[in-house]
Amino acid sequence: MKLLEKLKGIEKAAIKEIIDGGSLDEMEKARVKYLGRKGALTSAIKNMKHVAKKDKPRVGKLINELKQKMTALIEEKERGFREQEQVLFENNDATLPGIKREVGHKHPLIKTMEDIIDIFVRMGFKSVDSPEVETDFYNFEALNIPKNHPSKETFHTFYVEGGKLLRSQTSTAQIRIMEKYKPPLQVIHAGKVYRPDAVDASHSFMFYQIEGFMVDEGIVFSDLKGVLEKFAKEYFGQDVKMRFRPHYFPFTEPSAEVDISCFICEGKGCRVCSYKGWLEILGAGMVNPRVFEFVKYDPSKYTGFAFGMGIDRISMLKHGIDDIRLFYENDVRFLKQF
Ligand code: PHE
Repeated sequence: MKLLEKLKGIEKAAIKEIIDGGSLDEMEKARVKYLGRKGALTSAIKNMKHVAKKDKPRVGKLINELKQKMTALIEEKERGFREQEQVLFENNDATLPGIKREVGHKHPLIKTMEDIIDIFVRMGFKSVDSPEVETDFYNFEALNIPKNHPSKETFHTFYVEGGKLLRSQTSTAQIRIMEKYKPPLQVIHAGKVYRPDAVDASHSFMFYQIEGFMVDEGIVFSDLKGVLEKFAKEYFGQDVKMRFRPHYFPFTEPSAEVDISCFICEGKGCRVCSYKGWLEILGAGMVNPRVFEFVKYDPSKYTGFAFGMGIDRISMLKHGIDDIRLFYENDVRFLKQF
């Protein structure tokens, strides 16, 4: 029976087309092609008139079943496509507020460092680089800290392979620069230093320092005072007072520790300054002539001053941060505040 074979062919082709179809559009095309007014199945029905009378009910039933099967299959696939579309639509709801991108910013320590450098650069200092991995010569010997001398203890550090060490102070930059250049020098250098200290609220095995120094003929202690006072007023406020306390550093002579009046209580005494009214901010002094000998400068011709301060401490004072560890824990809840 020709029509029966034809129907089988239509069924096979139609089902493949519906199953392979990948969109609502393709389902509509299949519906028109097979079930539409001019569709393959419709024309098969028209051919019923050529079918022998006794076969008519069987063929009629078959056509109906085929029609139902194809309709059901198309509807099922269409339902699937509509659900997918709905999901896509919901996920792309244009009326929802946009996703705000978090924009990062500089770390508070880097900001503090740059702010300090800026002030000195405006005073004519040149900002330079210097290595963190150093030798005993730069971290100790040339800074007049001889082997086995007790002052070495203050600047204790980490030793690495090949007789090298991690610098424990940025004063190494004094030697590096003086070795390379002749006076006049007016230099600032900031970077990391390392000390094997037990970590607590005010100590870290790694922290930041900034070193400044000026060398020329005729540099005197009042130049140091003038430069530091200018810095303190610029950074902490015009009302800030300074005081110099005698101290000892092997690489400066004379040496001093420098305090500023507490800018929080204006010297009256508060929790931040431990009720002293003063905050220690740096170490300084006149470059020891022995240091000049190491870098082959004539100590009878040149004098200079040097100072070094802890950037972490300055940043903590400025922003009222009471634990140095916060700088290094990478907690965005903290970092976001600056
Ligand atoms: N390097 C000293 C320190 O780390 C600070 C300092 C620098 C003191 C320069 C005097 C001159 O404590």
